[in-house]
Amino acid sequence: MLLGLDIGTSAVKGVALDPSTGVVTAVAERPLALHTPEPGHAEQDPEDFALAALAVLTELASRVDPKAVRALGLTGQMHSSVLLDARREVVRRALLWCDTRTTRECQEITATVGLDGLRTHVGNLALEGFTLPKLLWVRRHEPEVFARVTSVLMPKDFVGLRLTGVLGADVSDASGTLAFDPRRRQWSQEVLGAFGLSPSIFPTVDESATVLGGLTATAARATGLPEGLPVVRGAADNAAGAVGLGVVREGLGMLSLGTSGVVLCPTDTLRVEPAMRLHSFCAAVPGRSYLMGVMLSAGGALRWYRDTIAREPYEAITARAAKAPPGAGGALFLPYLQGERTPHNDSAARGAFVGLSASTGPDELALAVLEGITYGLADCLALLGSLDPPVAVRALRVTGGGARSAFWRQLLADVLGVEIVTTSATEGPSFGAALLAGAAVGVFPTVEAACEAMVRPVGVTEPAPSRSALYAERQRTWRALYPALKGVLG
Ligand code: XUL
Repeated sequence: MLLGLDIGTSAVKGVALDPSTGVVTAVAERPLALHTPEPGHAEQDPEDFALAALAVLTELASRVDPKAVRALGLTGQMHSSVLLDARREVVRRALLWCDTRTTRECQEITATVGLDGLRTHVGNLALEGFTLPKLLWVRRHEPEVFARVTSVLMPKDFVGLRLTGVLGADVSDASGTLAFDPRRRQWSQEVLGAFGLSPSIFPTVDESATVLGGLTATAARATGLPEGLPVVRGAADNAAGAVGLGVVREGLGMLSLGTSGVVLCPTDTLRVEPAMRLHSFCAAVPGRSYLMGVMLSAGGALRWYRDTIAREPYEAITARAAKAPPGAGGALFLPYLQGERTPHNDSAARGAFVGLSASTGPDELALAVLEGITYGLADCLALLGSLDPPVAVRALRVTGGGARSAFWRQLLADVLGVEIVTTSATEGPSFGAALLAGAAVGVFPTVEAACEAMVRPVGVTEPAPSRSALYAERQRTWRALYPALKGVLG
């Protein structure tokens, strides 16, 4: 048996996977509280991560034979800053990946390191969600708190510390800090030095499918799992999610439709988009990397539409959308409700409905929302195709709540012009973390072998050529909206 544990934003989720059959035999979940003390601020208490993780592991241990568990793999939300003092106690709540208070610190990082420096040393733009800007924000606004900070961990690594007593990180999560060189797969002395930060503030780093440490006696007593159980570093949620879908080689991509929307493609070597509009991070496969576009509100925009305008379930919204003509009768929706990362990197961007007429009804509005989110995902894919040489994507494997809708999968295929593929595993990152755990302890010889053995494509949605010309034209019009509205909305 292999366990995977995902420290998400809405919940901590766990799975138990039987590697002899590929069947997930148990799942468990505990919700997490999110604190939004001010607009743009989003925080969580790391102690909640640890408590929820123990509860999930206890439930899993009660539903499998604990002695048969070979390893536990970790995954979790990226970028969020867990700050610890010398006694390894939490000094303040974590600032989350979706917190946007750090615009000034991002400007400061860009001015100090320069765009060329960012490209060379960390391969990414300074964005509000990343970790280094959060550290600089705490240093500026809460100097007495910052003075106590001796270690910075990602959420999954903090849970790893509580389970094993070992401070550590993996290359995929480290990549999202903006203090890590994803080419050398090591912390960037250049960037840390530029801000007077000691390299010792971040823990030692290793590849994702490696053992962090053994489960402590205390954690074993608390959960019912065996003392000394190998706890595997695992990977950032997107990197682990890709493994869970078998997306580990060039040519295949992952499309994740959760609150955020993600298009991720593995690359053999680290590639950087010239304007760094895509994230360039280390993958969970040793030596490999990936390029990723992130929409901040994908499923989140649909949830907003459901709660504030449609006031009916998701199934009713997609059924309505299916009745509207492709192109939604001219109605267009811009999904930038919380600003946008890819391709605009503009935390001030906002959403809009445009092109409404007297004949726009609820069916057209529903389709306009789904089309608008889908055009945003197509922007991410287009950037991958714009690289020289292009990162070619044959098929996208889908995960996340939005991928459950057959109508949306067809729309994705039509607009993005690639096959949309569903797989046997529906548990996302926690399933990937269980595969990484298996690869780390020799249940599988490699991460790729784990994917080959455990992940099966089950459904393929092909693009319908009859709609591609119409969607190409609508998407061009939609693309013109952001620049046209920038002065009004941002
Ligand atoms: C990726 C990102 C989100 C979080 C969600 O850069 O910020 O996808 O990882 O957990």
